[in-house]
Amino acid sequence: MQTEAAPASMSGLDAATALFEWYAAMGVDLAVDDAPVDRFAQSAAQMEAQKAQRAAPVPRVAPAPAAATRSAAPPQAKTASQTARLPSNETVMQAREAASSAQTLDELRALLERFDGCNLKLTAKSLVFGDGNPKARLMLVGEAPGRDEDIEGRPFVGRSGQLLDRMLQAIGHSRNENAYIANAVYWRPPGNRDPSDQEVAVCRPFILRQIELVSPDIVVFLGAQPVKALLGGDAARSGIRKLRGHWTELDTGTRKFKALPTYHPAYLLRAPLEKRLAWRDFLDVKATLEPAAR
Ligand code: URA
Repeated sequence: MQTEAAPASMSGLDAATALFEWYAAMGVDLAVDDAPVDRFAQSAAQMEAQKAQRAAPVPRVAPAPAAATRSAAPPQAKTASQTARLPSNETVMQAREAASSAQTLDELRALLERFDGCNLKLTAKSLVFGDGNPKARLMLVGEAPGRDEDIEGRPFVGRSGQLLDRMLQAIGHSRNENAYIANAVYWRPPGNRDPSDQEVAVCRPFILRQIELVSPDIVVFLGAQPVKALLGGDAARSGIRKLRGHWTELDTGTRKFKALPTYHPAYLLRAPLEKRLAWRDFLDVKATLEPAAR
């Protein structure tokens, strides 16, 4: 008589297959390193270090003379262990200081490559900085890279990116010619989870500076996450349903940009009936960029 095999008698291959199936179901779809890393132990050590840092007296640091600050090389990002010891608002201040020092997109990318203040960098394969024509009048800002973007190091290259390319094409735009695309967060959150408030906050100064450096006429926010990350205030509390299609203003602190929130293409893949509203928004973008001759 055949009886069901008890787990203890599973072959090594069956057990490995079951484990991989479990990982896949839990959203683990990418091996990042050759050897496993105990992130729980890492977080516990970081929390201990932060507690010790808070308990220690704060040294007074004399401000650097303004001229010396301006002529100095861009601030070097700290190593992961140095950054992990800093309280989180200091990491955000570091991010602001680094981002504002960038005078070109290449400098900004180089700063981000050295910046270790965002935990997501520990698990992501690539920095996903931006793609398209940096002189474009239209800039689109998405949420965060997914699996395909992490592998390629470019934003919106998966299924939602293909839909986005088709939507752009329909209004006579393309990332190769006259559109530039980036995300509110530069590294893939593991398993495509939502980025935490802290992860969004440390990326914010960089994406604001990136928008300033591209200097588009119009910024389109794709989905709720970039709206929440970059507009803050009441907009962050309103849903994307309410906000989409309504022009607003993005204030980077030194510049103001015309901005339009619309649905994220990944949402449109799940809810194709909503495409007509996104289509309306894209037509509005086109009309704003190319007002009809009177
Ligand atoms: N979704 C995003 O928001 N950004 C990407 O780059 C890809 C998918």
